[in-house]
Amino acid sequence: MAEYDYDVLIIGAGPGGYVAAIRAAQLGLKTACVESRETLGGTCLNVGCIPSKAMLHASEYYDAAKNGMMAKMGVVVEPSLDLEQMHAQRLDAVKQLTGGIAFLFKKNKVDWKKGRASFVDAHTVDVDGEQITAKNVIIATGSSVTPLNGVEVDNEKQVVVDSTGALELRKVPEKMVVIGGGVIGLELGSVWRRLGAEVTIVEFLDQLLPGMDMDVRKEAAKIFKKQGMNLMLSTKVTGCTVDGERATLTIEPAAGGDGQTLEADCVLVSIGRRPNTEGLGLENIGLEVNKRGQIETDHDFRTSVDGVWAIGDVIPGPMLAHKAEDEGIACAENVAGQTGIVNHAVIPGVVYTWPEMAGVGLTEEEAKAKGEIKVGKFPMLANSRAKTNHEPEGFVKVISDASTDRVLGVWCIASVAGTMIAEAALAMEFGATSEDIAYTCHAHPTHSEALKEAAMGVQGKPIHI
Ligand code: FAD
Ligand code: NAI
Repeated sequence: MAEYDYDVLIIGAGPGGYVAAIRAAQLGLKTACVESRETLGGTCLNVGCIPSKAMLHASEYYDAAKNGMMAKMGVVVEPSLDLEQMHAQRLDAVKQLTGGIAFLFKKNKVDWKKGRASFVDAHTVDVDGEQITAKNVIIATGSSVTPLNGVEVDNEKQVVVDSTGALELRKVPEKMVVIGGGVIGLELGSVWRRLGAEVTIVEFLDQLLPGMDMDVRKEAAKIFKKQGMNLMLSTKVTGCTVDGERATLTIEPAAGGDGQTLEADCVLVSIGRRPNTEGLGLENIGLEVNKRGQIETDHDFRTSVDGVWAIGDVIPGPMLAHKAEDEGIACAENVAGQTGIVNHAVIPGVVYTWPEMAGVGLTEEEAKAKGEIKVGKFPMLANSRAKTNHEPEGFVKVISDASTDRVLGVWCIASVAGTMIAEAALAMEFGATSEDIAYTCHAHPTHSEALKEAAMGVQGKPIHI
């Protein structure tokens, strides 16, 4: 009889966990995956990446029809909003994709254990009373919304909501206040602004989008203001009261000073996410979390406890689905005795607003702090395709090492920045120089030519500016 029920048991079926499970099974390991939600796919497929993109995509069409963009191109329509249908197509996308993971589990013979997991010991996990043993356990429990003291979320009431609640609003708010000018605040704030809400973003720091290149952050503020969002930077929320369908927020300058109030019929709390480790029984295996509540691992995704591994949002690094997926693959390969690697220096990040904002590698500020650099920047206004499509905003910026010319970072704002950044990530993964990009033939007319021209700019020789 086998010593353990499974070679590997994965806790959590988000992009980290489900991908790890499939790869482990592909490598011939007997695999189970525990998930407490009704459906597979984790935050990303159920209440994150996918439903938010469904709402962003649909609201973009509505906005283009409403704000005159379509009329500019000779398509004259008078749109009306069918919010119920917009939600229905969001739910349909989620249903199809989460169902797709269930199909892939069956196809790859991954056992889906439904329930909540907690460690009994390093090789035994309790799932709602059933004890399952495994030679290896991968923790992929993800993250959840960070609460804000004094601002209580109630997604049912739909007055003060988190990202999950903001995806499901039954009516378009008149006045929406978004607390936190990060990725969620700007994406979901954009959805409801496009559908008619007056949106105010209250951000503690003096710029939006922490972690991105300063040029992107400053340009982002201009773009969102122009779109009609009210931005209150360097401002903190000190309290919130709810009276029926209205909320009153008290705010004051982040540095202190006179307070004021803001009225809203919807408040979105989006000040970050924190790792899910509560109730996992980590104390039973002697596994401690760091100051930020994350589980630390080595380069191979091993924790300090033998046989226990961790990946995704629950470990340090950007909380992104593709980072979790790549870690899932690498971790499963390491469990199987292979050499799984993730290059954490090359993880692209994308904000799916209009236009999109994306980056990979070092920001100009980070690169400068490390040594001499060269920078090439090309405006989308001078890119023929963007100009033809009436998309003048944005730029591409390439940062390279002054002595070796190796690309250190690429940042862009463009309608399809999320797609464009993949090329930059590939170039960096191959150790490309800006000259390599500049001398690579790019199809015309495409937005990607702006990346080539920005790279030519590093050489001091762009053609179209
Ligand atoms: P999760 O996806 O959080 O999955 C963890 C799973 O573990 C959950 O399903 C949970 O139910 C389960 N679980 C937890 N504890 C237990 C337990 N004890 N027992 C059993 N099961 C358990 N990222 C992007 O890259 N692109 C985007 O466009 C994007 N958009 C987003 C939009 C929103 C609104 C949000 C909230 C997030 C978004 N993200 C996006 C972030 C992305 O969703 C996460 O980075 C990603 O889901 C992390 O994957 P994970 O596998 O680590 O964890
Ligand atoms: P975030 O970390 O991106 O932004 C939070 C913002 O809130 C920051 O700008 C921060 O300065 C601000 N803030 C913190 N406390 C505050 C306070 N008390 N008052 C006012 N502002 C305050 O976090 P967000 O937007 O909640 O997203 C969580 C995670 O989900 C992110 O790490 C992101 O990686 C991921 N995500 C990724 C997406 C994508 O890849 N397109 C989309 C949505 C989420």
